[in-house]
Amino acid sequence: MTALVNEYLILNRSSVFFVNTFKMRLLSTKNIIKIKSKEDIPIVKGLPIVGTIFSILSAGGGRKLHEYIDMRHQQYGSVFREKIGPVDAVWISNPLDMKLLFAQEGKFPKHILPEAWLLYNDTYGQKRGLYFMDGKEWHMYRQILNRIMFKDLNANVIKSYNIVIDDLLTEWNSYTGQVVPNLIADLYKVSISFMVANLVGSVYEKCKHHVSEDVNCLAQSIQKVFQCTVKFTFIPAKTAKLLKLKIWNDFIHAVENSIEYANNLVSKLMKYNSDGLLNSIKNIPDIHNDMIKKLIIDFIIAAGDTSAYSTQWALYTIGLHKNIQNNLRDGLLKTDFLECDLLINILKEVLRMYPLAPFLTRITPSDIYLTNHIVPANSLIVMSMFTCSRNEKYFINPNEFNPYRWNRLKNNKYNSVIEPFATLPYGFGARSCIGQRMAHTQMCITIAECIKRYEIETMNPVKIALDLITVPDNSVNLKIHKV
Ligand code: HEM
Repeated sequence: MTALVNEYLILNRSSVFFVNTFKMRLLSTKNIIKIKSKEDIPIVKGLPIVGTIFSILSAGGGRKLHEYIDMRHQQYGSVFREKIGPVDAVWISNPLDMKLLFAQEGKFPKHILPEAWLLYNDTYGQKRGLYFMDGKEWHMYRQILNRIMFKDLNANVIKSYNIVIDDLLTEWNSYTGQVVPNLIADLYKVSISFMVANLVGSVYEKCKHHVSEDVNCLAQSIQKVFQCTVKFTFIPAKTAKLLKLKIWNDFIHAVENSIEYANNLVSKLMKYNSDGLLNSIKNIPDIHNDMIKKLIIDFIIAAGDTSAYSTQWALYTIGLHKNIQNNLRDGLLKTDFLECDLLINILKEVLRMYPLAPFLTRITPSDIYLTNHIVPANSLIVMSMFTCSRNEKYFINPNEFNPYRWNRLKNNKYNSVIEPFATLPYGFGARSCIGQRMAHTQMCITIAECIKRYEIETMNPVKIALDLITVPDNSVNLKIHKV
């Protein structure tokens, strides 16, 4: 218990009170919760062997899984059980149940990983970084890395971030009056460059030309890995491997390329005498070069797509709302980008409407007491974040982009937010995103600099699709005009 509270302390100081009181309340109410057995959880039944696959396909397939699950919550309520492909899970969409789950997730919270990635690691004997670790090993590295990743960014890193964004926007100057041609590819490159800037700190300017080709290749291959992984929604990776299907070969090729490019990049960076993250990781007592590389490679892979797509969703949304964009530009002239409330609220709102992780997962370490159900130990619980963050019970007019909903009222409550816990873009608790601080700063600087220099116009509406993470179903076309 003490250890758990300590972890929350590092991650999010404001949640300490919540965890303490919440756990106490949980313990004292355990006896009065009307306990139901697992059978009481509604089960979505499918056909023999194929299960519910035809319903999912008719709802749009794996790329529309968030809508399918949303529809199931409407039919079956906030808790139900359904097996989708190889994944047999209890799906939950009530923030109170999520709080209960996080409070009981244990000292070593466990999430599921895409089957294809695990199979790749097993087949090729790959050991990977934090995201793939579990138990005591994960806990040890996570505690050490929390201290590094959650401390204030040093001024040299911010200067290097400025170089990254300046390089991008200088390139974009030639597109003024036009649609930016390779938006997502540019944003992938930017998110990896930010990571490099973070790793090497003040020597970024010196090393950027030396690694630019590695960054480009890595950006392309990471994008490919995610596109390939989503193809395993219905065909288990094991079957694809056994039958030597093209999707397995493509996936292997993309993963191998990413790891090789990331390896080359990190090897080059390690030669620099840096004052950034790399230096802090190198200074972890008894850490070997091999482990340094694994941790950093996984950081790069975890950061690449999440930051790129979140930034794209933010630019897309800002480009649809001219008034909000103008207010933001005015606000940025008066305040530093990290202190601009409107920018912070825009990002909260973007990540609420377009949660990069539409589902969060935990494997239950023991029986988990939800409000009306017990989920037995070793079950998979999936939190349906898309459903929850678009629910009118928790957000007034949930489908409306309204960053002002996050303004505080006199009673300290939010303007149009009923339950802030219904959006968790970076997850929650000891296993939440370790890069959230870094990601927030990088997105703030990117949006701020873009808006100061350009007026952004979104040319076409897009919808959400899933490529493992939340992506647009069509390419986003942004026209930029000099301010
Ligand atoms: C907007 C950008 C980002 C979003 C939306 C995001 C979101 C998430 C989410 C939802 C999780 C799972 C949390 C949970 O299960 O409770 C996660 C985990 C993780 N993220 Fe991020 N992330 C972002 C950027 C980054 C960056 C820049 C890094 C680089 C350090 C990073 C590294 C990781 C790692 C290593 C984990 C696994 C942590 C663990 O298992 O202990 N993420 N992220």
